[in-house]
Amino acid sequence: MAFTETERNPLSSLEQWEDDLLVRYPEPEHKAKEEYRNYDNPGRDTVREFYRLNHTYQTYDFVQQKRAEFLKFDKKEIPVWGAMEFLNTLVDDSDPDIELDQLQHLLQTAEAIRADGHPDWFVLTGFLHDMGKVLCLFGEPQWAVVGDTFPVGCAHSDRIVYPEFFQNNPDSKDKRYNTKYGVYEPNCGLRNVTMSWGHDEYLYHITKDHLPEPALYMIRYHSFYAQHRENAYDHLMDDHDREMFKWVNKFNPYDLYSKSPVTPVVSELKPYYEDLIAKYLPATIRL
Ligand SMILES: [Fe+2]
Ligand SMILES: [Fe+2]
Repeated sequence: MAFTETERNPLSSLEQWEDDLLVRYPEPEHKAKEEYRNYDNPGRDTVREFYRLNHTYQTYDFVQQKRAEFLKFDKKEIPVWGAMEFLNTLVDDSDPDIELDQLQHLLQTAEAIRADGHPDWFVLTGFLHDMGKVLCLFGEPQWAVVGDTFPVGCAHSDRIVYPEFFQNNPDSKDKRYNTKYGVYEPNCGLRNVTMSWGHDEYLYHITKDHLPEPALYMIRYHSFYAQHRENAYDHLMDDHDREMFKWVNKFNPYDLYSKSPVTPVVSELKPYYEDLIAKYLPATIRL
């Protein structure tokens, strides 16, 4: 598939997607959803276009192709901190007005988790959770890296953001994939479900042998808003998923609401995070 520049990068920065999440899921004590909706938001059209592409092209086959391509991990072998620096090159040239770069978002998320006294693997998860966005640096289009994730191979829930765009997705006309359960069995457990492709699934595969299971759920399903916020896929979840999603729900507010105007000083925090990385992860990871 060849894409034009707008198809590849409908958002001027990945932060536009994250800012839109705050419009949909505002922090409870802040503005009500309706107030946000009336708010003049020029980023809204690009976010819409982003979801149009995402919902059109994320088919069951597309996901299988991307898994085959990226889960070989034959692109690069680097230390985790190096991967973070690599990730940071992403925003530096894509948007000069950006308030926070990727590393700042990761550090703010992790520091908020640490300040609340959670276990160190939870802090590390906050620090790592978006590292999979390095996919953008391998030339992947934004709609195949970020955005809400959802199961492929079965009917698309109308509780996924912009559900109307699934009409353009060939799977919605394919009898194998357009029924409630599609290729799955009732309550088969998410481990048997293929999710749309993006930074969540990719990082899960990078970290799966090294972190405790709740951490892996947080990483793998943090963009699965249709489930962790809307409960739209209870029919595919098993009891174990339900238990583990308590952690996904615990993680989500740190991801969305930890943005602070006080930017963490990277050099001061680096030794702590380097130690944490060394405690749980190998010296280098393969991308
Ligand atoms: Fe993310
Ligand atoms: Fe995030």
